[in-house]
Amino acid sequence: MLDADAAGIAAAAQILRAGGLVAFPTETVFGLGADATSNEAVAKIYAAKGRPSFNPLIAHVPNRAAAEKQGLFSAKAAKLAAAFWPGPLTLVLPLAPSATVCDLARAGLDSVALRVPSHPLARQLLAAAGIPLAAPSANPSGRVSAVTAAHVREDFDGRIDAIIDGAVEVGLESTIVSCLAEQPALLRPGGVLRAAIEAVLGEKLAEAGSGGAIRAPGMLAAHYAPRARLRRDAMRLEPGEAGLDFGGRFPAGAHVLDLSPAGDLAEAAAHLFGYLRVLDAHHAAIAVAPIPEEGLGEAINDRLRRAAVR
Ligand code: TXA
Ligand code: MG
Repeated sequence: MLDADAAGIAAAAQILRAGGLVAFPTETVFGLGADATSNEAVAKIYAAKGRPSFNPLIAHVPNRAAAEKQGLFSAKAAKLAAAFWPGPLTLVLPLAPSATVCDLARAGLDSVALRVPSHPLARQLLAAAGIPLAAPSANPSGRVSAVTAAHVREDFDGRIDAIIDGAVEVGLESTIVSCLAEQPALLRPGGVLRAAIEAVLGEKLAEAGSGGAIRAPGMLAAHYAPRARLRRDAMRLEPGEAGLDFGGRFPAGAHVLDLSPAGDLAEAAAHLFGYLRVLDAHHAAIAVAPIPEEGLGEAINDRLRRAAVR
């Protein structure tokens, strides 16, 4: 575990430049980072996560100029970057001729997913490392994402080179928008709201999967999966079930965690993965209270839907 000070950041940057793996906090979730320009370094991410190698990674870069070296910005992509970077938005762009992100990080695609994170530690790390960082969420493939350094240690202790200690903000992954077609498409709901993106674009987002040209290779149906069985939109607890509550629907008890007693979606997003992990450690069945499909609720429900597939 590295401290989040100058010495810790410098040590982490050194490990990354040498091709090692470092987990670090971002404003969304913890990322498992490696040098995005090196097939050898990125191969270690796939190995540590047990990730299917057809699933491409997001390259994290410090700013727009660094992003332009990797991807080709349409006018719409430029608008989105101006509005939401740095922050929890990932843009999928056509690969630029000057790109250095390696084949393995892109899973061989001729497009690249780019994100400029806003988290101060992620920004310090990118500045110190001086290379784009491929960083998927720091969890074994298909399992619940990590939102604390302790989660990362549980899953990867001894199998990665370092973890930078720190706290996330949103608690859910970035929103992914593909700018490969004329109409931008929402590949994954996340920290930046659909409505905010559509307001900037002045048009609706296309849906992932609508139109064969839109590819979202990582949008596997089953993902974020706890070991426990998950029952969504539960109005009450059945015998033997633990409860993942929202807005105080279930009777309080040791086996019930409320994502937000006040019914606040941002608070619920911040608690989602941590509470899922806690309940999953002790229970075989989890009932999840209904969560409104508005604002951050779209991203929360997306994660819960896929966590319930088995
Ligand atoms: O918030 C986040 O985005 C976090 C933090 C660490 O930045 N990262 C993250 O990465 O969630 P990951 O690898 O768990 O999810 C990346 C998603 C995958 O579903 C992948 O399929 C998609 O991005 N993706 C990456 N490159 C793509 C591409 N060229 N075309 C379409 N989808 C792509
Ligand atoms: Mg993930």
